[in-house]
Amino acid sequence: MKCNKLSTGSPDLNMLLGGGLERRVITQFYGEPASGKSTLCLMAAAECLRAGKSVIFIDTEGFSVERFSQVAGGDGAEELAEHLYLFEPVDFEQQGLMIAESEDLLRANREHPVDLLIMDSATALYRTELETGKETLRRLSHYMVKILGLAKKYDVPVLITNQIYVDIDRKRISGLGGTALEHISKAIVSFERLDGTRRAVLRKHRSRPEGLSFEFEITETGINRI
Ligand SMILES: Nc1ncnc2c1ncn2[C@@H]1O[C@H](COP(=O)(O)OP(=O)(O)O)[C@@H](O)[C@H]1O
Ligand SMILES: [Mg+2]
Repeated sequence: MKCNKLSTGSPDLNMLLGGGLERRVITQFYGEPASGKSTLCLMAAAECLRAGKSVIFIDTEGFSVERFSQVAGGDGAEELAEHLYLFEPVDFEQQGLMIAESEDLLRANREHPVDLLIMDSATALYRTELETGKETLRRLSHYMVKILGLAKKYDVPVLITNQIYVDIDRKRISGLGGTALEHISKAIVSFERLDGTRRAVLRKHRSRPEGLSFEFEITETGINRI
């Protein structure tokens, strides 16, 4: 078995997660827009690429080459991007197909094996329907089961991001996708915007107490603890 945790590229986030992203499980980052989710996905991708591995990045929100380049370290970014497999589905039909397609990349026995699967975000393409539609929720669950199967079969971590909504019944802010998405994610970190800064809070973990947190700011190259 490979080392169980994969670095996120942020020492603070690694510490929060007890070392990094766990293999064979889904880690979920949820939070409001501009809370830092995509930045952290790019950091994790760049870290994995720097280690000589490949990354599958399913982006439903429009991948920013410029932001990747900033986070991946400027001039070296182009070289790193050679092993970044980017999928940009435009609807959830395609999202499902691309999850299935990514298995070919995971299966391939290459010099730079895929060591991380990112889906940023898991829920953007369902957004409006998720708040109401049961069928959409079933479909999302199905995709998550599929991606979890890939994580287990190929011994890689899966990182997904998720948007939030105000859950009136439970009187709190929740991630989209309801309890199904909450259940299938073994580690969950929420991101909040404070006055100019951000806070990451551990919401769910198998071996760490919930509620651990740290504050940070978003910078040109990623995030900095403050
Ligand atoms: N080069 C940069 N320097 C500082 N802040 C940046 C830079 N690029 C983007 N940001 C900030 O990052 C935030 C967006 O972060 P992002 O990770 O995309 O959030 P999310 O994915 O949660 O919506 C915005 O507040 C934006 O101002
Ligand atoms: Mg984002």
